[in-house]
Amino acid sequence: MTPDYPLLARQLEALLDTPDWLTNSAQTCAFLMQELPDLNWVGFYLQRQPEMLSLGPFQGKPACHPIPFTKGVCGAAARTRETQRVADVHAVADHIACDADSRAELVVPIVVNDRLWGVLDLDSPRQDRFSDADQAGIERLVAVFIEKTALPK
Ligand code: SME
Repeated sequence: MTPDYPLLARQLEALLDTPDWLTNSAQTCAFLMQELPDLNWVGFYLQRQPEMLSLGPFQGKPACHPIPFTKGVCGAAARTRETQRVADVHAVADHIACDADSRAELVVPIVVNDRLWGVLDLDSPRQDRFSDADQAGIERLVAVFIEKTALPK
């Protein structure tokens, strides 16, 4: 069953009651890990130097760092600025395996004032975990994060 994303968006809006990006990104990935079923990893990668993603706040096992824009599903999201949805990571040659449990992946780019600030990455142990509705719902939650957070311009 698809989670109630409108309700989750209202809850996340209430949770993010400071503009601080560090607090809000930590809260957001903890919230998603608690509220969404069948996830083994949720976290932010941040562009802190050109064309390179640095590991930010996350929930799950220790993960890969750094990830260049040229590599992996996260790199593709950063490069194209389009959400990447992978039903089975084993079928993607370019996938970077951090946690062997990961099977499906959704990566949403976070763009502020035409600059790629970072990406939000969600991994699931269940193949085909993310539906169209999940993608739209999670993109809405990322929009809440952007609205509620003072991200560097
Ligand atoms: N699988 C990602 C790397 C990040 S981990 O999943 C946390 C990728 O291919 O970019």
